Amino acid sequence: MKHFLDIHKTDKKDLRSIIDQARVAKDARNGKPKGALDEDPPLAGHMVALIFEKPSTRTRVSFDVGVRQMGGQTMVLSGSDMQLGHGETIADTARVLSRYVDLIMMRTFEEDTLLEMAQYATVPVINGLTDRTHPCQIMADIMTFEEHRGPIKGKKVVWSGDGNNVCASFIHAAGQFGFDLTFTGPETLDPEAGFVAEARAKGSDIQIERDATKAVEGADLVVTDTWVSMHDPQSARERRHNQLRGYQVNEQLMSHAKPDALFMHCLPAHRDDEATSAVMDGENSVIFDEAENRLHAQKAIMRWCLGK
Ligand code: CP
Repeated sequence: MKHFLDIHKTDKKDLRSIIDQARVAKDARNGKPKGALDEDPPLAGHMVALIFEKPSTRTRVSFDVGVRQMGGQTMVLSGSDMQLGHGETIADTARVLSRYVDLIMMRTFEEDTLLEMAQYATVPVINGLTDRTHPCQIMADIMTFEEHRGPIKGKKVVWSGDGNNVCASFIHAAGQFGFDLTFTGPETLDPEAGFVAEARAKGSDIQIERDATKAVEGADLVVTDTWVSMHDPQSARERRHNQLRGYQVNEQLMSHAKPDALFMHCLPAHRDDEATSAVMDGENSVIFDEAENRLHAQKAIMRWCLGK
């Protein structure tokens, strides 16, 4: 059983082959209409459940389109519409769904929900985001970096802002793909110490630097994300904005990175909060390539899970 639950839980060689396959498959689709079937569609006859307990644009559409391009079918389920939202256990839901579908993608709140789904499902389960991590996003981001700048190994990535679930998966990726990462943000929003320690133990240089200007010196890539995540209470909005204002990615901050440093944001963005429109729409921004590459990376992840 090959679940895709997190980057640090997946073998390095498998991660590399997923990225490489995604790039080949993307090239093979060049010029085709979005709805056209891939050649020799690998998911023909397969049914995929896409479960969302939180809102989504990119994850929902990219998984749905990806399955269809590979010849499979999807059913998009919201947690609240299922018995899952009315007291049925995750374990029972996992066992039932496994009788109907070949693959489950789940976006949920608590990581334990995802892990229980994976424990009891008899089909592969993919993490479509939890409060703790977002591995599919970072697989697309690694693919995007390498398309523009070549191998990410040995490069310097700077995360500016909240040490949230997306940041956590970037730290996992640093350990697995061999790049260095500097986190810059307020101490109260630091990434999990255990994730930092694990990436360091794998040989990555993970730094925490409170001064954003110093942090971005020599950066090959600067990344940020929304200051108030889906799982954060709206009551925390003002406090978070006050804490994070000094970590906004703007042209002044980018001027301290390498001249060709890329800018990434997984989207959705609050323009002119965590990043200015000038940076988001600037020549080194690859935010829409990241969004597109969700499709290609996730198709490769699904094929890996199903051994296709
Ligand atoms: N980046 C991302 O996961 O986007 P959605 O929340 O729209 O799926």
